[in-house]
Amino acid sequence: MSVLIKGGTVVTAEQSFRADVLCDGGKIQAIGKGLDAPKGAEIIDASSQYVMPGGIDPHTHMQLPFMGTVASEDFYSGTAAGLAGGTTMIIDFVIPNPQQNILEAYKQWREWAEKSVADYSFHVAITWWDDTVEKDMETLVKKHGVNSFKHFMAYKGAIMADDEILVNSFSKALQLGAIVTVHAENGDLVFRLQQEIYDMGITGPEGHPLSRPPPVEGEAANRAIRIAEVLGVPIYIVHNSCKQSLEAITRARNEGQRVFGEVLAGHLLIDDSVYRDPDFEVVAAHVMSPPFRAPEHQAALWHGLQSGNLQTTATDHCCFCADQKAAGKDDFRLIPNGTAGIENRLEVLWHHGVNTGRLTMNEFVAVTSTNAAQIFNIYPRKGSISVGADADIVVWDPEATKTISAKTHHQNIDYNIFEGMTVKGCASHTISQGNIVFADGKLNVERGAGNYVDRPAYASYYDALAKQAEQKKPTAVIRDALHTVKHA
Ligand code: URP
Ligand code: ZN
Ligand code: ZN
Repeated sequence: MSVLIKGGTVVTAEQSFRADVLCDGGKIQAIGKGLDAPKGAEIIDASSQYVMPGGIDPHTHMQLPFMGTVASEDFYSGTAAGLAGGTTMIIDFVIPNPQQNILEAYKQWREWAEKSVADYSFHVAITWWDDTVEKDMETLVKKHGVNSFKHFMAYKGAIMADDEILVNSFSKALQLGAIVTVHAENGDLVFRLQQEIYDMGITGPEGHPLSRPPPVEGEAANRAIRIAEVLGVPIYIVHNSCKQSLEAITRARNEGQRVFGEVLAGHLLIDDSVYRDPDFEVVAAHVMSPPFRAPEHQAALWHGLQSGNLQTTATDHCCFCADQKAAGKDDFRLIPNGTAGIENRLEVLWHHGVNTGRLTMNEFVAVTSTNAAQIFNIYPRKGSISVGADADIVVWDPEATKTISAKTHHQNIDYNIFEGMTVKGCASHTISQGNIVFADGKLNVERGAGNYVDRPAYASYYDALAKQAEQKKPTAVIRDALHTVKHA
């Protein structure tokens, strides 16, 4: 079945222009004025609307087993909720338990994801190290289309990667042409602060943000960046929530280092006042790491996006309902960390970004879709409106308004961190793999229709980086000096 999107304004990361878009066989077949509809084509009237690449959420955790429970949103409901908000692809995370074979874990996540209704891919977390992990990283890159490895610098005693793991994994990733990503919080500091705060008698959820102040994040971001600098590997810092980590990224970028930064819609729009609510359920619903920050950090994060020092927006969609959060009623350290947002990311960023003049429409496309596609090497197949690209498209009505609520959202969670927020500008239609999967407020999705997306390694560019890093290493400098002395 083909779909003709007629009379809209195409908005990409580079330009905006009036054109019809014809989709067939899952791909964009033609872009131009006055395109004829093939026989039997479905036609979308997009006049007064924008036609943009579907959103890519590069950071989600569907049905994640975590902190003694499993995230309530699975790959079916989560990708469907994404489509209802114009997000047509996710990059989720395989997170092996320490000592678990990482290929086995990868296969397990692939199986879980088979029910997805939209396309998906996986970052793979390195949570421990030995020769088999090193070998399996190679297999993942060469045979399974994985080009990014994640490292949790927090969650001590569980999935935390210490410096030794970072050094080993970062070196291997460079050799393989893969990018490294980190959750930047100093896990040892968090552990110590959690204990001290709990021992002081602060056992409620307000203890969570107290145990994870901004310097804890800034230190870890800076450390990961400097390790990546010495080894010469490009690095991507997930969910930057504060000035300190943004400063570390900005500094390194100004020095020419290949560093990328992600920010969550939640961290841009919600401040730490949520932790002062007297209701346990409300505070626990906002327990995520890093936590929501004071307003000055939000202002800095918007500037980070505007300046290009932060390139992507995500949600870290990781849903736990009130009964799951209740596990930490008497001890904040046991509240499963995570909040939702995949359905609302595009609309809250449009409303607070484009409608306020903070972002142009083209910048909006860049930070919600195109930049993620480029950084994770799936552009222009994803993140673009171009002939031959996947027909993953959102038709955007800039005049439509909506008030966000857990009562009406499609996400499988009983709370919405954007509850009561009225936004202007929403998806009127979402097209995934060339099919209309969301229209007139209704989903029409097929279980299992989502495809796994291979992400190739960045081979030749990384070879150059590896050579450059080798030349700069202290060992190389000493070798050169010795050589000079010998031949003097
Ligand atoms: O609190 C969060 N962010 N939960 C999901 C796991 C992670 O750290 O990304
Ligand atoms: Zn994280
Ligand atoms: Zn996460």
